[in-house]
Amino acid sequence: MSEVKRENWGSKLGLILAMAGNAIGLGNFWRYPYQAASNGGGAFMIPYFFALVFMGIPLMFVEWNLGKTGGKYGHGTLGPMVYLQAREKAKPRNAAVLGAIAGGFAFAVTVLVNSYYNHIIGWTLGYSVMSFTGGYMDPAVKTVDILSKYLANPANLGFWVVTLALLALAVNGGIKKGIEVVAKIMMPLIYVFGIVLIVKTLTLGSPVKPDWSPLAGLDFIWSPRWQDLNFKSAMAAAGQIFFTLSLGMGIIANYASYLKADDDIVLSGFTTVALNEFAEVILGGTIAIPIAFTFLGTEGLGAGVGLSFISLPNIFRIMGGGGLFGGLWFLLLFFAGFTSAIAMFNYLTALLEEEMGIQRKFGTWAIFGLYVLVGLPIALEATIGGKGLGGLNYFSAVDNWVGNVFLIVLGLIEVVVTGWLMGRKGLDEINHGSYWKLPKWFYVAFIQILTPVSILAFLVGFLWTTFTSGTYKVVDTWSLAGTIVSFAVVVIGAVQAYVNIKRKYGEELSSNTVKILK
Ligand code: ALA
Repeated sequence: MSEVKRENWGSKLGLILAMAGNAIGLGNFWRYPYQAASNGGGAFMIPYFFALVFMGIPLMFVEWNLGKTGGKYGHGTLGPMVYLQAREKAKPRNAAVLGAIAGGFAFAVTVLVNSYYNHIIGWTLGYSVMSFTGGYMDPAVKTVDILSKYLANPANLGFWVVTLALLALAVNGGIKKGIEVVAKIMMPLIYVFGIVLIVKTLTLGSPVKPDWSPLAGLDFIWSPRWQDLNFKSAMAAAGQIFFTLSLGMGIIANYASYLKADDDIVLSGFTTVALNEFAEVILGGTIAIPIAFTFLGTEGLGAGVGLSFISLPNIFRIMGGGGLFGGLWFLLLFFAGFTSAIAMFNYLTALLEEEMGIQRKFGTWAIFGLYVLVGLPIALEATIGGKGLGGLNYFSAVDNWVGNVFLIVLGLIEVVVTGWLMGRKGLDEINHGSYWKLPKWFYVAFIQILTPVSILAFLVGFLWTTFTSGTYKVVDTWSLAGTIVSFAVVVIGAVQAYVNIKRKYGEELSSNTVKILK
């Protein structure tokens, strides 16, 4: 198979900012604060760091490596990437099955996470506008009702469609002129807005009660409350690591597929993790929770997922310059979400481009259409159905399966393929061209043993807690539909990935021996 000419990243800075943008998303600023607050504050940080070291960092190297291998053969999607690595030790037909399964999960994640993720990005855009125009400032109306009304108003779907169109335009520009340019603009703004908001947060004083202050809020998030540390909070912490680092989604591997053959993986992968963790633990942890605590005490943290959209608007209403700071907060969320959604968008665009021969300039609009289609159930249930906040059952079902379980399964497949089926060759590939070399002991101890074992334990534990706590209970037709759609999309993705692998490597599959470049 001849090497296919693909785009590469234009600069090291562009690559690092794009990768950081891929990882840094709504997960860091919207999801992390409520996960930490509702799972034991400081106690959450213990399993969080454990998951980071045992699963997050090793898997980041694995995904970069899968991507670089795929890129060499002209692939930006996970199915063929997994096939190429798995056939080092597995027979091609078995490797193709593994590739198809991995491709199916990655397809489901990139199609379905974005089916709700883009809606949330649309809400952040709508709420930025509302912040600057005073849309939620009336103290007589509860912020929870404002959010529900916002969700039930069909006109607000415009923010979602605009978000999708902006994503399509950006991906249309390609890697250098599209994704890299967006990252170079939005990523610095995220850090600048984050730091402005932190300065504002830390200088709020104690306007409501003497013991409600930003520092008391930080104390709340950092002091371990051991009684709150349990199996469930450990599972939440590990899930957060997967989501925030964009692991088990196929999108880190997709970005890495645009590396050159001699590009660094170890230092760059580690830098991606470091930038993401700074944005999450330092920026994400120092804004929402201390602000909410300063004005509302622990009650302000009770809103769960609504921390950003329900608790904080309450505060922006009463604090000096609240419209401006509220606007910066929601714009920060918008940029963070956008630079992650663009990676999922590009994954599917690469699939059309490389596996179906559809040019990027048309493919991006096809994906735009696909995202409108897969986002419709949420629009129909919450908005057109007029249920607002009460109409997110489809959303929750999809998020439960795709945003949690599928990521872990895919992460497990990836690490087993690199660690065991590539074997020690995986270490050579990771270190090839890298500024820092991964030591052999790390590869053996982590990538071959501790990481797969931790992910497997996490998968079993996660399924156990969620099934026993009823999270996966089908509550109505919408949640049933969400569950069915989630699995159906995996099957469609797996069939597509298999067909593609067969088309490219059919010769190997029919003789069941590796013929093309071992
Ligand atoms: N990693 C992305 C986020 O944190 C998906 O939102």
